[in-house]
Amino acid sequence: MKKIIIAIDGHSSTGKSTLAKQLAKALDYIYVDSGAMYRAVTLYALEQGFISDKKLDTDALISNIKNVNIEFKKQGNNPTVLFLNNKEVSSKIRGMEVSNLVSKVAALPEVRKCLVREQRRMGEQKGIVMDGRDIGTVVFPNAELKIFMTASAQTRTQRRYDELNAKDETVVFDEVYENITSRDYKDSTRADSPLTQAKDARVLDNTNLTQSQQYTIVMDWIKDLID
Ligand code: CDP
Repeated sequence: MKKIIIAIDGHSSTGKSTLAKQLAKALDYIYVDSGAMYRAVTLYALEQGFISDKKLDTDALISNIKNVNIEFKKQGNNPTVLFLNNKEVSSKIRGMEVSNLVSKVAALPEVRKCLVREQRRMGEQKGIVMDGRDIGTVVFPNAELKIFMTASAQTRTQRRYDELNAKDETVVFDEVYENITSRDYKDSTRADSPLTQAKDARVLDNTNLTQSQQYTIVMDWIKDLID
């Protein structure tokens, strides 16, 4: 069976990672959450004090970017636990503090250059599912399958709110809505690698789809490509 690259892009909280993980497991492919890498750089900037009062010291972050080491390691049943400079940060990067700042960090061309280089290296052997905002347009423009995921903002907010609320009951629905819609706006309008649908991407609007319906649709696309 042929090994391919599966690039999944789309709006915030459309369930890209959930789908990507299911596909990687079924196909025995590597899964890479590129958003987690941008979130890790944002956490690094916060921890180093490069962000105060929501202001990012761009020069300080760029001159220290070589000191950021991001790794996905296997831990127990989970093959993709995120480590930032040898510290496990998987849940820290999901909080609202990082979510509210990540699009600012992700707009910096110097940050993107470093992470895209790393992402391409991970895909050299194919057999990879990567999700993000620029995977089918910039990172792997020749990916055999490109999926562009979307859903209504209300549906996406409800899903993310439920996920965050399970860990932290102080989360406010309107704050999650504001975060999702403002990230979409920033990600789609930035100069470097904006979120756009690749010309050859297949659109998956999952507002009214269950996870299993969505999985069946995508697996049918994949079967046609790998057989
Ligand atoms: O999980 P969610 O869809 O909310 O976001 P994410 O995939 O964790 O990505 C977080 C942020 O990282 C996005 O809002 C973008 O600003 C940035 N990002 C990016 O610029 N390029 C990527 N390939 C992936 C994420």
